[in-house]
Amino acid sequence: MNKLLVIAATLGLLSSASIAVQASPQQDLKEFRAYFADRFPDVPFKDYVNGVYAIDQASREQWESIEEFPPYELNIDKGKKLFNTPFKNGKTYASCFRNGGIGIKQDFPYYDSATGKVVTLESAINDCRTKNGEKPLKWKKGPIADISAYMAYTSRGNKINVKIPAEEGALAAYERGKAHFYAKRGQLNMSCADCHQWNAGNRIRADLLSPALGHPSHFPVYRSKWGGLGTLHRRYGGCNKQVRAKPYKAQSDEYKSLEYFHTYMSNGLELNGPGARK
Ligand code: HEC
Repeated sequence: MNKLLVIAATLGLLSSASIAVQASPQQDLKEFRAYFADRFPDVPFKDYVNGVYAIDQASREQWESIEEFPPYELNIDKGKKLFNTPFKNGKTYASCFRNGGIGIKQDFPYYDSATGKVVTLESAINDCRTKNGEKPLKWKKGPIADISAYMAYTSRGNKINVKIPAEEGALAAYERGKAHFYAKRGQLNMSCADCHQWNAGNRIRADLLSPALGHPSHFPVYRSKWGGLGTLHRRYGGCNKQVRAKPYKAQSDEYKSLEYFHTYMSNGLELNGPGARK
């Protein structure tokens, strides 16, 4: 009898374990939103696009006055010029994108079933170049950030609309990004979530930690610390380094997957890039 009970208990455990399926992206999104709504009950959902300034009234005014004469304005102009300058074959970037590349940032990143890869806006910009016989640009700053800033600018006000199709490859990329976000790493043994979810609104040294919700809405970002514009993956690298972890390469599958998860969590928020930060 005893033995039978043990077996039954074991079976019971096993069957409940196999029933426990992975949470779907939709469920994750619901929980993620609920967490922030509960943590910051006074912050309206649409305000999360402003990063730390959504939760910090004190620094918000200073930031708003910076945004009146935005430091990234020249970058948008440069990006526009680059975007419209023909390649050697006479074509332009417009030929590679839906709607000539105007107002389309909300579609990125997306999963491409044909290649089994996540496509980010920056990877699409470089794909466009190589397809047209041009050399790819460097990933983290410079011309690619300028072009990305211009494309982001033409998409301002559009709502982030990342899709996770019910396909093995798309779900795998999403899960990889989610795992990166919640995995502890580096000598400090901290995850993205440790700082930007569980401790959002708390201080780490001199910095107030921003909520992860809304993070991707305003990239690329002009940072005074960088003295220029940088892409989201440049920031990922910096945040990996903060915990003394080795950063991944910009546009590696790891960071593309992270961007896929991270941006999906911000679905429905308005794009307001490029942005300015400390
Ligand atoms: C040790 C704490 C810490 C960890 C861990 C960390 N960050 Fe950060 N992160 C910061 C600080 C500090 C800032 C600057 C203040 C702010 O905006 O939160 C920042 C800024 C950012 C920004 C820019 C926010 C904006 O509005 O422009 C992004 C995006 C970001 N982090 C993403 C991540 C991701 C993704 C991870 C995991 C790979 C991560 N961070 C891990 C501390 C951290």
